[in-house]
Amino acid sequence: MSQRPAVRQATHRHYLMCRPTHFDVTYAINPWMDPGKPVDTDLAIEQWEGLRRLYEEYGHTVDLLEPVAGLPDMVFSANGATVVDDRVLIARFRHPQRAAEAPAHQEWFTSRGYREVHSATYVNEAEGDYMVVGRTVLAGTGFRTDPRAHAELREALGCPVVTLTLTDPRFYHLDTALAVLSDTDVMYYPDAFSPDSLATLRELFPDAVVAARADAEAFGLNAVSDGRHVFLPDTATGLAARLRRRGFEPVGVDLSELLKAGGSVKCCTLEIRHQAHA
Ligand code: ARG
Repeated sequence: MSQRPAVRQATHRHYLMCRPTHFDVTYAINPWMDPGKPVDTDLAIEQWEGLRRLYEEYGHTVDLLEPVAGLPDMVFSANGATVVDDRVLIARFRHPQRAAEAPAHQEWFTSRGYREVHSATYVNEAEGDYMVVGRTVLAGTGFRTDPRAHAELREALGCPVVTLTLTDPRFYHLDTALAVLSDTDVMYYPDAFSPDSLATLRELFPDAVVAARADAEAFGLNAVSDGRHVFLPDTATGLAARLRRRGFEPVGVDLSELLKAGGSVKCCTLEIRHQAHA
């Protein structure tokens, strides 16, 4: 172990976000959602604007997807598509309440001329369950994404896929239990995974940043990294300290209103990965 953390390199990112204009909690499809609890949509918009501004301040490009009335979870754009090398695999949502978000994503990518836009046969909630680390996709299953979708992902995007099984309903998407920090680094919450999947993670990432329960419960793993700056909920203070020790720069964000729907930073951020031009 070296004394001084490595100097981390940020790279420019391209994100797709969707303003929470119609955000609300009107149904419960994960344990964080309580339709009986009041939601302040204006506050949600203000907090979300803060995140969007932050990305732009750090030099990233943010594109916007037009929000649709009657789709209160559409702010969680990460669930709509997975994009690698400009190839797009559109989501197929598990719950009927969110099904109509998929065609909105399909239309966005198709109308912008992405080189391949695949629709999916099997249920997959895109970057909610699919995390790209270097050339490999870590693919979650257990609550939302159908395990049969993992082969479909491999076919459509041409990347190696590693299946990981989630076991705690509070961590129902892979992006609530694991975050990608760089092409080779991740952080995760061990108790969210089956014993086999945990063994896989330990083998693939022996140096991973491991999150404590309080940070995981604060949605600290629902984070976005540009390789150096890690945007994460500001309440995940333990995780922020661990990241700093590894040479990353944590940037705390308050998205408390969106937490009422079981989402935070990463859920609001779909990363568009472009083809490298040699
Ligand atoms: N209410 C949404 C759902 O349960 C939250 C989605 C959060 N998104 C995410 N990428 N984890 O589907």
